Amino acid sequence: MNAPELTEAEHLGLYLRATDTGDEWWRVTVADRPQTYRLEHGVQHAQGNGAVDIDLVVDAENLRAKLKKWHREGFVFEARGAVPEADALQRAAFMPDLQRAAAQRRAGAAAPGAGLGPGSNSNSGEARAATVRIGEVDVPCGAGGALVPRVNPAYLFSERFNDIVEDIVENKRVMLIGHTGAGKTSLIEQVAARAGHGVVRSNMNGQTTVGDFVGFWTVKGGETLWVDGVLPTAMREGLWLIVDEIDFAEPSILAALTAVLEPHGRLTLKEKGNEVVAPHPAFRLFGTANAVGAMSQFRHLYQGANLMNEAFLDRWRVYLLDYLSPAEETDVLVRTLAPHMTPTVAATLAAIAADCRAAFAREDLASAFSTRRLLDWAELMLRTGDPERAAGPAIYAKVSPEDATLIRGIIRHHIAPAE
Ligand SMILES: Nc1ncnc2c1ncn2[C@@H]1O[C@H](COP(=O)(O)OP(=O)(O)OP(=O)(O)O)[C@@H](O)[C@H]1O
Ligand SMILES: [Mg+2]
Repeated sequence: MNAPELTEAEHLGLYLRATDTGDEWWRVTVADRPQTYRLEHGVQHAQGNGAVDIDLVVDAENLRAKLKKWHREGFVFEARGAVPEADALQRAAFMPDLQRAAAQRRAGAAAPGAGLGPGSNSNSGEARAATVRIGEVDVPCGAGGALVPRVNPAYLFSERFNDIVEDIVENKRVMLIGHTGAGKTSLIEQVAARAGHGVVRSNMNGQTTVGDFVGFWTVKGGETLWVDGVLPTAMREGLWLIVDEIDFAEPSILAALTAVLEPHGRLTLKEKGNEVVAPHPAFRLFGTANAVGAMSQFRHLYQGANLMNEAFLDRWRVYLLDYLSPAEETDVLVRTLAPHMTPTVAATLAAIAADCRAAFAREDLASAFSTRRLLDWAELMLRTGDPERAAGPAIYAKVSPEDATLIRGIIRHHIAPAE
């Protein structure tokens, strides 16, 4: 490969080399400014195509230097035809086009009609329902009431949550997946708390029957009465329904849910003479799960979870909620345990949590380390002044002896013993 003798356009394509972990590749395409090139890098594992982990734009000179370097490293030019010029131009045009379209949509989105809350469909010139700003999104306020969760003033709305909050406003069905204690339920509850929407929760990993969920007939004082289940109740009253651990739901419950997964989907109460329940405009439906979709690799940790079929999943926006970053978790610790928690202590605790999660990802640890566990441990250590003693009930007693030993090692690595 002698770069200067060819034009850069002739170097567009794919460069490959085999490694122990899979095929490593670089892809060269034209970038959106003249004389610039986009370089993407990834590794294709046996399990499938790895994500792009490096994505940069370089000039022609830089590209030539890279080509030489890859040549030295054993990369072989694999596919010149892989990115023909027309495709490359179209590819380069995509992001600018999309960004223009998105900016136009944002400019138009200030108009009413998102449909959240009773007042938002008003067409009579009366004032629109008030909104609260959550992150970068204006969320229409609900009717309030006893079912509105309590605001957690220490709750941190990460920037990553903006898309989810916007989906809620747009009446999309949102499923949050992630490890236990990553913050799935609290995200929904804190949006509802701030916007004044009532929330009901129904956990599928337990005794929830289709009767509890959809409704049942009962006899009271000699009279036969229908009792609405949690789903029709939420739909009629405009509540937010969180179906927790949806991957444990029994098929009859999933069948009832499927009917209301469309934004205006109605529920037919077959047991009640096919009465049709139409959703209140403020009704929202959420699912949470630990081991669905992208989390399926952790199914062995969440015994009994069902695989959900793709047709069902495709009716949701599914977000993988990862643990907060160490900086975010430090912030949450300081705010939750104010005024006693100091930023330095918090940063150390967040670093310990991050190390435990890394050990978990390497499968050195069998137990996940949740934000809930971290907060609980921190709270107890403020009371006892002793991280090791506090770790007993907050951590060690909940995990295997091997895991406890490893976690103790991680903690000692970060915390020198007191004098
Ligand atoms: N962004 C955040 N800001 C402040 N606290 C948070 C945040 N995210 C999570 N937490 C705290 O972590 C704890 C666990 O969160 P949550 O109950 O939402 O987890 P979860 O993902 O629903 O867990 P599970 O799968 O076990 O139901 C909560 O008590 C909450 O206070
Ligand atoms: Mg939860």
